[in-house]
Amino acid sequence: MKLPELKIGSLIAKIPIIQGGMSVRVSTSALAIPVAECGGIGTIGGSGIPVPELQEDIRKAKEATKGIIAVNIMYAMRDFYDLVMGSIEAGADMIITGAGFSRDVFKIGKKFNIPIVSIVSSPGLAKLAEKLGAAAVIVEATEAGGHLGTETPLRDLFPSIRKVVKKIPLIAAGGITDGYDMAEMMDKYGADGIQIASRFVLSKECSVSDEFKQAFLDAKKEDIVLVSSPVGLPGRAVKTPFVEKMLRGDDISADKCQYKCLKKCSYKYCISERLHNALVGDVENGLVFSGANTFKMNEILSVQEIFNRFVQAAESVYKEPVPQT
Ligand SMILES: Cc1cc2nc3c(=O)[nH]c(=O)nc-3n(C[C@H](O)[C@H](O)[C@H](O)COP(=O)(O)O)c2cc1C
Repeated sequence: MKLPELKIGSLIAKIPIIQGGMSVRVSTSALAIPVAECGGIGTIGGSGIPVPELQEDIRKAKEATKGIIAVNIMYAMRDFYDLVMGSIEAGADMIITGAGFSRDVFKIGKKFNIPIVSIVSSPGLAKLAEKLGAAAVIVEATEAGGHLGTETPLRDLFPSIRKVVKKIPLIAAGGITDGYDMAEMMDKYGADGIQIASRFVLSKECSVSDEFKQAFLDAKKEDIVLVSSPVGLPGRAVKTPFVEKMLRGDDISADKCQYKCLKKCSYKYCISERLHNALVGDVENGLVFSGANTFKMNEILSVQEIFNRFVQAAESVYKEPVPQT
């Protein structure tokens, strides 16, 4: 059966797939444009880059496609509000917020008539987001890559949030590997769509270094581990030599704070520097964020091919959704 469209506010994505935002230049317009062109929601990772650079990238994406371009901004960033305002000014269609929860961002959304989508990992925050005016909620479970807000797996977490969020779309995220997972989340669990990120890192268009992609391809199940982040949340990443040092308790602290990126930083290590290292190919000294199921993915595909495979597999099994009580 054909998959439904995903409606968020007045925006309609023909294919109910959001490409998860990935900070520090992992998901730029290079990835967001083809995703939007395929009918999904392409997301530029807005954290960890200067506002003018982000704005230029948003404008580039908006000129290149009539599809939907979102910007993901982490609340933990010191320049959160500048990034939000800068994104709106540059023409982003949607703001997605994660890694913390802002109440004020909903007022900005209303004022500028732009949908605000919250990434949450608990029923309480999901309910609050709906009440404050979120246009949709992304339920991010423990299988996700990057910073995590829960230890609960997707198939346990999602129903607890589906019960309390009734009026706005609910998107499932974390460890979704293929179209069969997608169909299951949508017809059995009542998701209105999915957010996937790791699968898109292994795309031809994702602009991370070949070494970053190779770390994904080489990772076995046991190589994808939990790390602590200076943000104050656990994170999920590939066990690179840098991560091994962290897990051993070696001194990994930075000499000085160059970026001043976070509102509150533990200074245990410099996350911007480590993410940047991985981005440009120094995986040995880098932090390679990854979802728990990356080990199931073993090829680099074009974004179009990823969409084709997801939609084909999902539609081969997708049926009328089970009514949620
Ligand atoms: C390399 C990488 C970077 C990420 N960066 C961010 C980020 O900046 N902000 C955010 O809200 N989520 C971030 N995430 C989480 C994703 O957007 C997404 O919700 C999650 O990874 C979905 O799980 P999957 O990767 O198993 O598909 C990141 C994930 C990865 C793999």
